[in-house]
Amino acid sequence: MKPKTQYVCSNCGSVSLKWIGRCPDCDKWNTFQEETIIPKSSSINNSLLVQGSKPEKIQEIDTAEHQRIKTGSEELDRVLGGGIVPGSVILVGGPPGIGKSTLLLQVSNGISKYGKVLYVSGEESSKQIKMRADRLHINPENLYVMSEVNLDEILNQCSLDRYSLIILDSIQTVFRPNTESAPGSVSQVRECTSALVRMAKTAESALIIVGHVTKEGNIAGPRVLEHLVDSVIYFEGEHIQNFRIIKPVKNRFGSTDEAGIFEMTSTGLKSIQNPSGYFLTGRTGDASGSAIIPVIEGSRAILVELQALVTKSWFGIPNRKTNGFDINRLSLILAVIEKRAGLQISSNDVYVNAVAGMEITEPAADLTAATAIISSYTDKTLGVESAIFGEIGLGGEIRGVSFAEKRIAEAERLGFKKIFIPKQNESAISSYRNSSRNNPIKIVTLSTVKDLVYSLGKG
Ligand code: TYD
Ligand code: MG
Repeated sequence: MKPKTQYVCSNCGSVSLKWIGRCPDCDKWNTFQEETIIPKSSSINNSLLVQGSKPEKIQEIDTAEHQRIKTGSEELDRVLGGGIVPGSVILVGGPPGIGKSTLLLQVSNGISKYGKVLYVSGEESSKQIKMRADRLHINPENLYVMSEVNLDEILNQCSLDRYSLIILDSIQTVFRPNTESAPGSVSQVRECTSALVRMAKTAESALIIVGHVTKEGNIAGPRVLEHLVDSVIYFEGEHIQNFRIIKPVKNRFGSTDEAGIFEMTSTGLKSIQNPSGYFLTGRTGDASGSAIIPVIEGSRAILVELQALVTKSWFGIPNRKTNGFDINRLSLILAVIEKRAGLQISSNDVYVNAVAGMEITEPAADLTAATAIISSYTDKTLGVESAIFGEIGLGGEIRGVSFAEKRIAEAERLGFKKIFIPKQNESAISSYRNSSRNNPIKIVTLSTVKDLVYSLGKG
């Protein structure tokens, strides 16, 4: 008898009996794959917790919170909420080649100072892992590596010793021999993950699982696993650029409001101590078409440069291109500048670029983008040591944004002389000015886009 099949979305795990081109749940195209339906009796046990447990008095439960293990990477510890909680399961996702294996080998090195670490790779041979360790200049004593893709063999090896941390790189390469679907398919990835999670919870080992994210969706993405694990961290950042950001999208042991910032160097990922300084290097003096925004990444403010280029359009439909900035937001800002500030800008080609491959999604960048655009158009500037932030409304009004104080403080720390902020954020200033400083930054408030045009005239 032909086994029964179904179609599963490799991005979000949505199930359909027929093949469909576009997933109705996550709107991705071509992500449905045929899978064999596993009979109920042998299907995955949904409960991931240890079997045969007894009721415990809550006051006597040891949360292991105080025993968080430091990974040796300050930025990763910050993102995890202070280190790895023993026995927790972390999923690390990101596109291939972004630095997941590199970071985890560095983490293995850090953790192996406290206990045994097992690094299982389905992608590289033990020799290749050793070569990578040599490149990173690490030589950990308590790190064990194994190249294996058969999950039963991996589980077996994990049970033979006590490891503080087990790393599986990557979940898409392993398979359970008795499951029919291919490695990387949704059911394989899910079944392997839940078996690993159960093993880790029983053995009280921390477990880190690597999951590749691909645009094509031909392998099951980490999203289908998010509910099975304690914490999920994603890598962001462009391949061409050297900096990488990691962000938690789920964290049972800490806030998801954090971000870790790294630079990829020839000896691995290094924490960037002063991100603002990093993003501002290479700025060319008081050039027109540039503006600085203090963006909020996690709990920190970071100064980033936005650049714009406005040129005469030679075609009927003017060109609009952005890098690291939302193109719809750009259209809105251009329309407001034209209508509310009276600048005939919309027939020009407009390009907006966030420097160093940074992705800026905050509405607070509206005013910064508008500044760069008007500056490029009029050839006037706010002055080289100025920063600016604020949201722009359709009426040309400038709206207040959150964390105004933090943004002002970061600009001041970096030695900026002036900062332009929304008038609605005025209250943030008075409390800011009360705390006396040696060299206070000059704070200018703006109410409308017209005010901005006027300020640029004075720059
Ligand atoms: P890798 O960690 O293998 O990515 P992933 O596991 O996410 O697929 O990172 C691969 C890239 O990082 C590769 O292009 C080479 C680069 N790299 C460095 O720049 N410096 C280093 O020290 C290492 C080990 C890798
Ligand atoms: Mg890798």
